[in-house]
Amino acid sequence: MEIVELKKGIYWVGAIDWNVRDFHGYSTPYGTTYNAYLILDEKNVLVDTVRAPFYLEMLGQISQIIDPSKIDYIVANHVENDHSGALPQLVERVGTPTVITTERGKKGLEKYFQKSFKWRIVKTGDALSIGHRTLNFLEAPMLHWPDSMFTYLKEDRVLLPNDAFGQHFASVQRFEDEVGESVMRHAAKYYANILWPLAPLILKKVDEVVKMGISIEMIGPSHGLIWRKDPGRIIQAYVEWSRGKTNRKILVVYDTMWGSTEQLAKAILKGLIEAGVDARLLHLRSNHRSDIIEEMLEAGGILLGSPTLNNGMFPTMGDFLTYMKGLKPKGKILGLFSSHGWGGGAIKAMRRVLEEEKFEIWEKELAVQFRPDSEELGRAVEFGREFAEKIL
Ligand code: FEO
Repeated sequence: MEIVELKKGIYWVGAIDWNVRDFHGYSTPYGTTYNAYLILDEKNVLVDTVRAPFYLEMLGQISQIIDPSKIDYIVANHVENDHSGALPQLVERVGTPTVITTERGKKGLEKYFQKSFKWRIVKTGDALSIGHRTLNFLEAPMLHWPDSMFTYLKEDRVLLPNDAFGQHFASVQRFEDEVGESVMRHAAKYYANILWPLAPLILKKVDEVVKMGISIEMIGPSHGLIWRKDPGRIIQAYVEWSRGKTNRKILVVYDTMWGSTEQLAKAILKGLIEAGVDARLLHLRSNHRSDIIEEMLEAGGILLGSPTLNNGMFPTMGDFLTYMKGLKPKGKILGLFSSHGWGGGAIKAMRRVLEEEKFEIWEKELAVQFRPDSEELGRAVEFGREFAEKIL
């Protein structure tokens, strides 16, 4: 593969996973990449590795540039195996490199791999001169795991923040300006499905970086494209997403057994459209949960519809709510609707889950027995219209 140089002496040496379609429950129709970065100086440094099955691909990249045994340091910014899986094999191949990580990183890596390495433990504010360059370390707990940290190359103004600012997107291009606008959609889906629960910490971390006066010319995340042309754009997007900025957009997320809940969903959608909001109809078995979550990011309201099954909600709704509540989306109003046969229960079951997580739920709900008649469909349209007014 072609050698990719970010700046003089700084190389991308990662791997492209074209075929992964499920990333722990997140659909990845475009695959992903595992980015590792090689820095040549008086001491040579590799920042992060790749998922274990891609070890040889990474080694091939490194070998095009230097003899891997000449690596002095390997920075492990994060324990999760998509970045550390190839670490044990690489350490063995290199010899005795020093592995730089946080205290928690050491603990996690030792437990995962049941082995120890030659460690250098770092914390926020620590720096390491490698010749003409200085590596600065900034702990970033929960971005993505408690062990996570960022590595900053001061002289080059390059930030290597591991999972932060990434996208699950495999391509022959390595830089965001080579791809165009679609990069923001990949970044939004990634943020919503991975980093959303950590929104308050993201705001704190961005603030901390600003106060440190760090100047950033390039951001090399551990997944997807490198932000070269306008790194400020993704930082600004993270701030807006983390602040919960929403648009006049409402989702109708539903499943249906015999079509009645779907009739309600479509009537509600009509009401939303009449009220002038940007509305989306999302059937739970036609849309992957991670795509619905991406749609939720900038939506002000979500209407959830489920038929009643065995006195509870439909299983797909249970799956979706389990996933959604873990991501802790803030600043959304939720509304509930349902159709049932002889006995209800879906709305009660949905409400119970959402109340436990302290979501804001619209007190009004819409429940219909069997198939909605024309009067009930009219009420559903009105239900949509009224809900739209709540987020205008
Ligand atoms: Fe890409 Fe948290 O690992």
